[in-house]
Amino acid sequence: MQPSQAVQRLSQSQRAKKLTRPGAEVVSLASGDPSFDTPEHIREAAIAAMREGRTHYSAPVGEADLRSAIARQLSELGGGAFRAEDIQITSGAASGIHAAMSAYLDPGDEVLLNDPCYSLYADVALAIGAVPVFVPWSAALRLDIEALQRAVTPRTRLFILNNPVNPTGIVFTGAEMQEVVEFVCRNDLLLISDEAYDHIVFDGRTMISAAGFAALADRLILVNTCSKTFAMTGWRVGYLAARSGLIRAAAVMHRNSVGFVNTFAQRAAVTAFNTNSNWPARMLEEYTARRNLMCDMVNAMPGLSCERPEGAFYVFVRVDAPVSSEMLTEHCLQHGVAVRSGTEFGPGGEGFIRLTFAGEPTKFQPGLERLAKAMNAL
Ligand SMILES: Cc1ncc(COP(=O)(O)O)c(C=O)c1O
Repeated sequence: MQPSQAVQRLSQSQRAKKLTRPGAEVVSLASGDPSFDTPEHIREAAIAAMREGRTHYSAPVGEADLRSAIARQLSELGGGAFRAEDIQITSGAASGIHAAMSAYLDPGDEVLLNDPCYSLYADVALAIGAVPVFVPWSAALRLDIEALQRAVTPRTRLFILNNPVNPTGIVFTGAEMQEVVEFVCRNDLLLISDEAYDHIVFDGRTMISAAGFAALADRLILVNTCSKTFAMTGWRVGYLAARSGLIRAAAVMHRNSVGFVNTFAQRAAVTAFNTNSNWPARMLEEYTARRNLMCDMVNAMPGLSCERPEGAFYVFVRVDAPVSSEMLTEHCLQHGVAVRSGTEFGPGGEGFIRLTFAGEPTKFQPGLERLAKAMNAL
């Protein structure tokens, strides 16, 4: 029996990713999994929930107090009120992205993506028969609203924004966000804003959420997750937030695929959202030191250069050598270090590789030393 065309398309797009999966002897600079433990008070909340017997079905949309806690936080952003009814709890950001895209895209509909961008967007679009349209960033890897405007056709339905950006590390300025808002309103598009790294923003920059714009009230689906902010990648708790009834279609898709998220993990997430702790600040301080160390080491290597990322925990490294990004990725693997080819994130990633400082320096420094050897051996 042949698998569906969707599976065939996905397997093809994931071939490159498989190449970078590290074996035992390979140091990985590829995985976006924070090295921190989930903070103690969050783990304790899950243990308490299990002891209390909160181990049964949850409402498919999610637990009421978690939805309220999220709605409360989003309502403080200045773009108008969110209600608990506007929130769908999802299995990390990934199932939210799936649900939102499959709720609003028909086969043949076009999705605008900044190029390069997080690879799941194009994978999901292809799997459901929609068309990912890659639109290059400017030369400085920033928003190019004219290029986006030129890419709009009568089939364009959706623009996916990711802020801070994986893989480039850009954080949108207020002026850029304003341009995005005007662009989606002018062209009558739906906006998915993936803000998975909203708490990982460096050097005193302000993260400007799409939820802060009242003009987006009837065209925004916000995606977020506990994965990166609270080092909870394995818990699988995220959410979609959308007003004006937009959440309903996504909730239907989510209920019919994921079902719902573990009840005790949702209890832990309530604690994560409702506790005022020094956690994000502590994490940010550590990430800042890691970022600086990684960038300094990269900039000392022949043929590689990078800017310090403004947000998220990736370094997007420009390659000045006569090899393609994929060839370099393969070459690095032969030298015992796994990196991601920029082209995994779209054709505009040619000439780049992506590294991550989600791991501890004691782990990534040996990987960077191998990368330097690989560059010297080219
Ligand atoms: C931009 C972006 N969105 C979403 C996700 C998926 O997050 P989750 O693990 O919560 O599904 C990732 C994971 O790396 C990501 O980089």
